[in-house]
Formats: sequence, structure tokens, C-alpha cells
Amino acid sequence: MALNLLMLGPPGAGKGTQAERFARTHNIPKISTGDILREAVAAGTDIGSRAKATMDRGELVNDDVMIGILRERIEREDACGGFVLDGFPRTVAQAAALDGLMAGRDPLTVVDIVVPEPELVRRLASRLICESCGVGAPMGGGSEVACARCGGKLVQRTDDDEAVVRERLKVYHRQSEPLVEYYRVRPTFRSIDGTQPPDRVAADIAAAIESTGVGAVDGVGKAVDKNGVRQGAQP
Ligand code: AP5
Repeated sequence: MALNLLMLGPPGAGKGTQAERFARTHNIPKISTGDILREAVAAGTDIGSRAKATMDRGELVNDDVMIGILRERIEREDACGGFVLDGFPRTVAQAAALDGLMAGRDPLTVVDIVVPEPELVRRLASRLICESCGVGAPMGGGSEVACARCGGKLVQRTDDDEAVVRERLKVYHRQSEPLVEYYRVRPTFRSIDGTQPPDRVAADIAAAIESTGVGAVDGVGKAVDKNGVRQGAQP
């Protein structure tokens, strides 16, 4: 059974951090619509050029554009054995479109990462990412000057400016928070306390997935089916 995991939560909740980690340990792709848009901006594509101003204001890119991006991405072969979605859906219209795209696939498992607003603002104000490869700097240090992966310069994300963060949070409450109610009625929905250290959050996500029975997770974080066979990993 493929594990199709969806991370919900406000900006700064830790969706990207956990999605990256989960995808790596399960050998399934992380599909982050924010990363896809930032890559498009950096590459100067049509979509990137049109999305940049919207992202810099902290608003959402048009549903039709985002649904088109997501459709193209999850239809690629590497997503057939499962995926982790980070940043999509952001509206009920996107969620309804995703339900259509999931026809014939294993069900979505949805985790909502819950973190109070003052902590979100604190995290985003102190986040640094690499100007070259987009990877986030490790948490907590504050003294890093270069990217640990490629040596690139660490900079603030353009939408992590405090005024833009406040706007992103407003947009989250208005357009994305209704998704919690949209998914809460499903047996595969779980809430996670995102204020804990990342290792603890990851362990709670693994336990939550196991509790749904959709795809159990073994001790080293690999998805296993009901017979204990690892899913999505290389033999
Ligand atoms: P996107 O990139 O998706 O941004 P976001 O949802 O605002 O999420 P963030 O990346 O800010 O936060 P996160 O929850 O991933 O937290 P992270 O792990 O990075 O979208 C950007 C923009 O693109 C949108 O505003 C919109 O314009 C557009 N867009 C994207 N998708 C769209 C869509 N579907 N529809 C329309 N528009 C779309 O962690 C944050 C910080 O906290 C990091 O520094 C991290 O190290 C730290 N941290 C993580 N976990 C912990 C922890 N447990 N304890 C302490 N610190 C932690």
C-alpha cells in the first residue's frame, strides 16, 4: 500500500522540515509547492515571474495554476509508490481537486501540525535559507554564515519579512485553516503537537500514521504494509 502523506499547518509549523525528513527515510518524493514556485522564480519561467509578486505579498497563487502544477508533479512515475505533500492544498478548491487526482490511488493520510502563532512568528523571523540551493540552515545556531550543503550564502526568505509573515498568517486563517475541518472527518486525519523538538514531532507523526492502519511505520521510519514488508524503499 502506498503512503500518500499530506502535511497541513500554518507557515512555520515545520511542514517542510518534517516532509523532507519523512520523504528521505521512506524513499518517496517530497512534493513542496512552495519549493516548486521558488525554483520557477529562480529560473525566471513564466509561472515564476507571475507568482513572485504574489508570494512576496504573502498571498496565494491562483488555484488553477497550483492545481496544474500539482497534477503534473504527482503523475510522474516517482510519485506512484507514495509521496509527501507540503504546501498543497491551500484552499478547499485545491483539496477538492486533489481528491479527484487521488482517484484510483491509496488514500491520503493527513497530519495537521499545530503550533501557536507567537512561536510561528519567532521561527520565521530567525529562519535563514541558502541563496543558491534553497536549503534551510540548521536550527538554533544563528552563527552559520554559509550553507552546510553547498557553501552558498545564507539569506532571509523574501516572504519571511515580519509584515509579510503577518499577512501569510492572515491568509492561512482565511483560506487554509478551513482545510482542517475538511479533512478532520476522515479516519486518516491526525493532529500533531508541533511545539516539540523535531525528533519528537517526527516520532509522533510516525505513531500517528501507524494508528491509522494505512501504512504502519517500523522502528527506523520505513513504511511497512500489514505483512511487515517495507514500501517504497530500494531492495
Ligand atoms: P511555502 O513555501 O509552502 O510556505 P509556508 O506554508 O508559508 O511554509 P513555510 O515554509 O514558511 O513553513 P513550514 O511549515 O514548511 O516550516 P519549516 O519546516 O520551513 O509557500 C510559500 C508561498 O508560495 C505561499 O505564501 C504562496 O504564495 C505560495 N504557495 C505555495 N503553495 C501554494 C499553494 N498550494 N497554493 C497557492 N499558493 C501557494 O520550518 C520553519 C522554521 O522553523 C525553520 O527555520 C525550521 O528550522 C524551524 N523549525 C521546524 N520545526 C521546528 C521545531 N519542531 N522546533 C523548532 N523550530 C522548528
